[in-house]
Amino acid sequence: MANSDAVTAGEREGTAPSYTRDVAVPLIAPSILSADFARLGEEIAAVARPGDTRADWVHVDVMDAHFVPNLTLGLPVVQSLLKSTDLPLDCHLMIDDPDRWAIGYAEAGAYNVTVHAEAAHDPVKLAKNLRAAGAKAGLSIKPGTPLEPHLDTLKHYDTLLVMSVEPGFGGQSFIADVLEKVRTARRLVDTGHLKLVVEIDGGINADTIEQAAEAGVDCFVAGSAVYGAEDPGRAVAALREQAARLRVG
Ligand code: DX5
Ligand code: ZN
Repeated sequence: MANSDAVTAGEREGTAPSYTRDVAVPLIAPSILSADFARLGEEIAAVARPGDTRADWVHVDVMDAHFVPNLTLGLPVVQSLLKSTDLPLDCHLMIDDPDRWAIGYAEAGAYNVTVHAEAAHDPVKLAKNLRAAGAKAGLSIKPGTPLEPHLDTLKHYDTLLVMSVEPGFGGQSFIADVLEKVRTARRLVDTGHLKLVVEIDGGINADTIEQAAEAGVDCFVAGSAVYGAEDPGRAVAALREQAARLRVG
């Protein structure tokens, strides 16, 4: 887990360039992986009505059956979703070779495009390309992937997506060990060494969101906790309220 000496050395290298962290936190990002794929437009509309039941971002899980053992949707569906909602789309690419494929999502108009550190060949160049295309750039790490080797790379990113389940499926149990990485990232953001949104994905629900909030998460992805609820909008409001009560940073 966190090697504090390594982090301290990284911190001495100076502060991150002035990438914006221009969002009001906490953010709730329902994952449509747990929605009804035959009615995606309506499912997003259920969390898009004005008021506290409105989601901040909509999390879209793109899986290629190679990087993860599951297949979901790709660019054509994202292009259609972009036409059907004004909510920012937070595209989480669980795919091989994101250096080749991620740019299409940015060019299509996705708000944030997240690639996996384990899959990207040149993540710094990738981030620059995503930003040049008008999107925020996100870097995700799987539960077993340490944060430290990616700290310099993260100076080029707008979001860090800490996976709290093995990527691939919704409805899995929260892995609390990853909160150590969240605490490290929170500290680096709060001290100005990184300027990014700290996001968590996997197993977030009413029982787990408070520990994630206490660790310093800014943005909470929730799939089954939102779309498994009778009223997805009310689930969004309840999760946001819970996170806002506990969040530090
Ligand atoms: C898993 C996906 C998650 C998933 C989370 O690989 O990246 O976004 O939808 O689902 P829950 O919230 O049910 O764990
Ligand atoms: Zn995801």
